[in-house]
Amino acid sequence: MKTVRDIDLTGRRMFVRVDFNVPLDENGQVSDITRITAALPTIQYLVDHGAKVILASHLGRPKGKKDPQYSLAPVAKILSELLQRPVLFLPDCIGPEVQGAVEALENGTVALLENVRFYKEETDNDEIFSKKLAALADTYVNDAFGCAHRAHASTAGIAKFLSPKVAGFLIERELQFLGEKTANPKRPFTVILGGAKVSDKISVIDALLDKADNMIIGGAMAYTFLLARGHTVGNSLVEPDKIDIARAAMQKAQQKNVNLLLPIDSIATDRIDFGARAIGVAQVVGPDIPANMSGIDIGPKSVALFSETIQNSKTILLNGPMGIFEIKDAAKGTFAIAEAIAKNREAISIIGGGDSIKAVNKSGHGNDVTFISTGGGASLEFLEGKILPGIDVLD
Ligand code: 3PG
Repeated sequence: MKTVRDIDLTGRRMFVRVDFNVPLDENGQVSDITRITAALPTIQYLVDHGAKVILASHLGRPKGKKDPQYSLAPVAKILSELLQRPVLFLPDCIGPEVQGAVEALENGTVALLENVRFYKEETDNDEIFSKKLAALADTYVNDAFGCAHRAHASTAGIAKFLSPKVAGFLIERELQFLGEKTANPKRPFTVILGGAKVSDKISVIDALLDKADNMIIGGAMAYTFLLARGHTVGNSLVEPDKIDIARAAMQKAQQKNVNLLLPIDSIATDRIDFGARAIGVAQVVGPDIPANMSGIDIGPKSVALFSETIQNSKTILLNGPMGIFEIKDAAKGTFAIAEAIAKNREAISIIGGGDSIKAVNKSGHGNDVTFISTGGGASLEFLEGKILPGIDVLD
């Protein structure tokens, strides 16, 4: 795949799709700059090589309306601070004013367009809208891994009208870690999957059972697996209609010689208040969970068992938390697994999926892992083996 390294940049107008879909706080200020910093290497490289950089992104889901609460203006301010150079914020993403402004850009300067999702044509992947975006530039760069699974105008449609179309460094790195490092992993390769639902992870479980040596399943989805193994799960979150899928996954693991590990104990409680982020009395139970209780986290024996497997691994992929880590009393298991991953300095450790990224950062081990993907849905779809439209359109 071609990247920005492979093309002449001086004086070229580059349409660079980035994923600046960042969280905002109650005052409309950016509360997490991870996705902005992740795009800096490409932007800096383009600036250093004399390109005219036109950045485009979405923010939130404004449903095709110009809604000021989804403006990218606060992002422009932070980007300018991080780059230590001015960023020209344009109040629209198409139209004569924008066209005039980008034509007047000097070499090595940066402009940021307003939210492309202020037009419904963006998510419709409308051809005329794609053409209007393309008219702003000579070359297409996609560095928005987080939304590469969307076939939208600025992530896919535009590529029809621009050439060359190349990847930025962020996409290159994502493909290197989520792709190459898991396709030909150093073994043992341990996959740790968590999260609430089996249904969200069916395809990824199936795809990774073809590659892994160990598969650890935690989070509420483990209770559907435990149910399939004949355990009681009390009031835990389960998907009874997915028991067959869990059973099939366990059979496949056996056939493929994958060591599939489920929690051998859990932290359970009789009350969960998501709003107040509080629980009733917590106790260690398991593997069976009493009738009136819900499993909310993996227990200490499971942490020890999983950590031992993690310690003996050479490649580790984490996708999904082990419990309701947003609630303090149900976060220990997730943080302990993050710590076990961080401690294994010999292994390549890859963290993917929105919740696991939050959890690993919150555990304080964000800097101790090899790679943190910027993709939530995109990293999951990529690991499932799907072709991502935003990558498919590149040279
Ligand atoms: C994300 O945050 O996962 C990406 O930016 C995609 O956003 P979307 O789910 O609104 O398309």
